[in-house]
Amino acid sequence: MTEIHTENPRTLGRGICIITGASKGFGRALAHEVSHSLKAGSVLLLVARSESLLQELKLELQSFTEEQQIVVRCVAVDLSTREGVHETVMVAKQEAGNEMDHVLLINNAGALGDISQFASFTDLDKVNSYLTLNVSSALVLTAGMLQAFPCRPGLRWSVVNLSSVFALQALPSWVLYCTGKAARKMMFNVLAEEEPNVKVLSYSPGPMDTEMQKDIQRLTGAKYHLFPCQESAAKLMKLLLDNEFPSGTHVDFFTV
Ligand SMILES: NC(=O)c1ccc[n+]([C@@H]2O[C@H](COP(=O)([O-])OP(=O)(O)OC[C@H]3O[C@@H](n4cnc5c(N)ncnc54)[C@H](OP(=O)(O)O)[C@@H]3O)[C@@H](O)[C@H]2O)c1
Repeated sequence: MTEIHTENPRTLGRGICIITGASKGFGRALAHEVSHSLKAGSVLLLVARSESLLQELKLELQSFTEEQQIVVRCVAVDLSTREGVHETVMVAKQEAGNEMDHVLLINNAGALGDISQFASFTDLDKVNSYLTLNVSSALVLTAGMLQAFPCRPGLRWSVVNLSSVFALQALPSWVLYCTGKAARKMMFNVLAEEEPNVKVLSYSPGPMDTEMQKDIQRLTGAKYHLFPCQESAAKLMKLLLDNEFPSGTHVDFFTV
């Protein structure tokens, strides 16, 4: 008799997946997608400042994750602080057993920052504060995770950088956002060059219906056609499941 397999044959394996900025928008939609592709014994770490939104998401995922024996942990921290990054790495280390076969870190948390003319940025602290969350924190978190989970045979290591078209394209008055995204792209390119055992993807998710987009429209008056976060999250999941992209590549929502 033919055996019937109900399990999704393409999975992310038994892994630990860390999603920063999971409380809202794209990160939240991605948490739903990821939870359906992890094997039993996996750990999903949801990271953002808002504890209540993270707990709400955990509840949304619960019926499925409990059945599939996936542990979901909320880490309510400010990733622009040393303590917040440190706690995220510590929780990941505590939660992941030795038998994980995939570490998937999704650097999604980010902020729009001020949209204002170049000459207005005279306050060093304000500029540094933007770069701390949007550039430095992603570097320090990724480095911390690489130390916590050293590469070894049999361990798949993937890092996703949430990017933007503005990593490649300069836009007047968007100096903070463009600079942050361009710096991240280069930062993760360096990781891809340096670490052949780590698969790195910069993903530009397209214009999505999120709080960040609401701010953009309010501040600039621009009107874009917005896509649901789920649509973009599903495209990213397909890229990760296919795992055919060259490490370090920059992929845009519109081209996949
Ligand atoms: N929306 C778009 O159209 C679009 C287009 C291109 C690229 N992107 C990129 O996609 C990513 C997600 O964007 P989004 O639109 O989903 O943004 P969003 O709706 O503003 O959500 C941002 C997420 O980051 C978290 N976050 C912000 N500051 C944080 C901090 N200091 N510490 C920890 N977490 C923090 C927020 O949670 P808390 O507030 O709870 O901390 C939230 O979960 C960003 O990197 C963005 O640049 C978005």
